[in-house]
Amino acid sequence: MPLNIDKGLAGTVAADTALSFIDGAKGVLEYAGYDIDSLARNSTFEESTWLLWNGRLPTAAELTAFTASLQACSDLDPRLIELIRGIPKTTAPMDALRTSVSALGHFDPEADDNSPEANRRKALRLVARTPALIAVFDRLRKGKPLVAPDRSLSVAGNFLWMLTGARPTAAMEKALDVCLVLHADHGLNASTFAARVTIATQSDLYSAATTAVGTLKGPLHGGANQEVMEMLLEIGDLSKVDGYIKEKLARKERIMGFGHRVYKAYDPRATYLKTFAKQVASDTGNLALYEMSRRIEEIVLAQPNLIEKGIFPNVDFYSATTYYSLGLDLDLFTCVFAASRMSGWAGHCIEQLAANKLIRPHADYTGPHGLRYAPIGERAVSATSSTIPSARQAMSVAAGSNASSM
Ligand code: ACO
Repeated sequence: MPLNIDKGLAGTVAADTALSFIDGAKGVLEYAGYDIDSLARNSTFEESTWLLWNGRLPTAAELTAFTASLQACSDLDPRLIELIRGIPKTTAPMDALRTSVSALGHFDPEADDNSPEANRRKALRLVARTPALIAVFDRLRKGKPLVAPDRSLSVAGNFLWMLTGARPTAAMEKALDVCLVLHADHGLNASTFAARVTIATQSDLYSAATTAVGTLKGPLHGGANQEVMEMLLEIGDLSKVDGYIKEKLARKERIMGFGHRVYKAYDPRATYLKTFAKQVASDTGNLALYEMSRRIEEIVLAQPNLIEKGIFPNVDFYSATTYYSLGLDLDLFTCVFAASRMSGWAGHCIEQLAANKLIRPHADYTGPHGLRYAPIGERAVSATSSTIPSARQAMSVAAGSNASSM
């Protein structure tokens, strides 16, 4: 069989999905046929999750029942809370989330049941409990008492309540809810792909979700929102934006929150978020940050070479100021993304299992062949060692030893 090499898999279609559709050239994102802009304006995270999992909008009765089911399972097992208490307080919240999502499975008797019914129940628990996991770790690391979930609140409202111990205003709840809607699914992005690879081995939903959290963490994926905020705080003032960004571009450094593997036009999630971020920033006295973001966008969009490459703001650019305006710590930003994307990850895993095929691509071997196995006493580092793959050299440097011992 002829093999095509497609590093980064940019031109590879590896799954069918009915969850979301992306047209990167036109800047279109739809969940099950509904444009993301109309969902951000009119839907809720609960409703969008239902839509992703069922392929149609729910009736009022269906949405009420679904919301009640989510609210009913937002409690965490006390033994799980003890386990989270054991995580060092200095751990990054995304790392703590990776551990605690994995640990959720230890307390779910259905963890290894891969029937569609059990997986739907587990999907519900994962979506309901992920915000609680994030809030519990955050409060424990700050030495604050834990806040029990409030079953009368939406996922967004309860998330803010469990994080802060204060009733969120309607505007704050709406702001977080909009962000949750916008991040819930996005085709075969890196973390969703990772989740599908894991579940395709007929592993379990908790393992797939854990894989996905670890993949989302990276700054080229979900971790970018935190880096956007760090950049804004480092710049500090509107008057310093031009110098900072232009120097960065002159050094050929990437501007975080810009560019996307699929979108070569304006990220449709950023379109509404830009207007929304302005409102939230204005309401919370953070308009200066918004103005800095807007100026960064102006500078980047005025670079012909970047426009040529299709570099526009992505969803992380304006979600950063929105989360900051909500008072969230910077290292929680990517966790919020994870809480939302759990909806898409779970939906994709269930979809993968419905027509499963092991996902197993090839690697192009670049090393030598047919070498004679020499006893250890006869081995010497020869000139040919310069031809060993650079990845192996990196491993040997990282391990501080000869790679051949690995
Ligand atoms: N700023 C400046 N230049 C950029 C940026 C950026 N943010 N992103 C890409 N480029 C340039 C690259 O330098 C490269 O230029 P070259 O062809 O002259 O070498 C070209 O655009 C293509 O970049 P690639 O990295 O090959 O594109 P890819 O599709 O692999 O990467 C990615 C997409 C990783 C998102 C990239 O745009 C990036 O690093 N952006 C910054 C990080 C970020 O915001 N990530 C969040 C993405 S959205 C999400 O995951 C929710």
